[in-house]
Amino acid sequence: MRHLMSPMDFTPEELDRLFDLAENIKDFPAKYAHACDGRILATCFYEPSTRTRLSFEAAMTRLGGRVIGFSDAASSSAAKGESVSDTIRVISAYADICAMRHPKEGAPMVAASRSGIPVINAGDGGHQHPTQTLADLMTIRSLHGKLGNFTIGLCGDLKFGRTVHSLISALVRYEGIRFIFISPEELRVPDYITSMLTEKGIPYEEVIRLENVMPQLDMLYMTRVQKERFFNEEDYVRLKDFYILDTTKLALARPDMLVLHPLPRVNEISVEVDDDPRAAYFKQVEYGMYVRMALILTLLGIEV
Ligand code: NCD
Repeated sequence: MRHLMSPMDFTPEELDRLFDLAENIKDFPAKYAHACDGRILATCFYEPSTRTRLSFEAAMTRLGGRVIGFSDAASSSAAKGESVSDTIRVISAYADICAMRHPKEGAPMVAASRSGIPVINAGDGGHQHPTQTLADLMTIRSLHGKLGNFTIGLCGDLKFGRTVHSLISALVRYEGIRFIFISPEELRVPDYITSMLTEKGIPYEEVIRLENVMPQLDMLYMTRVQKERFFNEEDYVRLKDFYILDTTKLALARPDMLVLHPLPRVNEISVEVDDDPRAAYFKQVEYGMYVRMALILTLLGIEV
């Protein structure tokens, strides 16, 4: 039995097969409409989410399966003090596969170690968000044409943003990638990431001003300042609007640069940017659902 805790749980070859499958599902949805008939996905979300939970639910429903679950800790037995380990043993009796989001880093991993069914980490604290990374990689592969040989700027909250941490760890396995980290001093990417890049000899730069590096980028990954992980409101208010991508700034970018964002967006991308052909964040949402469909099939060992 296989779980997905980090994007590194799949080799680059396995990821390519997963993305091929997701592309096939996208092109021939009818072929997969009953692939999960009679199967149940449990979504155990101990932290708020719209996109990820609904994306999993849509994915399973489009495969013909059904979904059970809870969308916040208060409405689960966690409120009575039940441990994640006990919850997953119970869920294992009800469902065939589980997607779990938790504010504590490592909680889905603890669940996986006690689980009788595959567990997918749907985001654990500021740590990892592997299915968002699958969506990101698939978007890059489809719209940029290949995974490798590009300069990517990651901008915003690089300290607390788990999608950023997950994406960097997945990208270091591809050739010719250069990272430019764009953040205020307080929200710099964690040391363990820059040390890992230095160790592997992967080029990176850390800058504060987005405008200065914009013309060099093949893609720009914007992120929201992670309000819920701040210790005080004042710091959040001071930093939340540090970066706002608008059409004036976008004019400095290459004509084929991709703008990515895991969403939800707050103010960091002006809505006027949505109409620019370089804006890829709503396509990312679509790829996210197809790749979750492919993931469910793969972890359940279902071949169509
Ligand atoms: C992200 C998350 O939950 O980490 N959202 C998502 O799942 N697409 C990003 C965020 O909340 O900023």
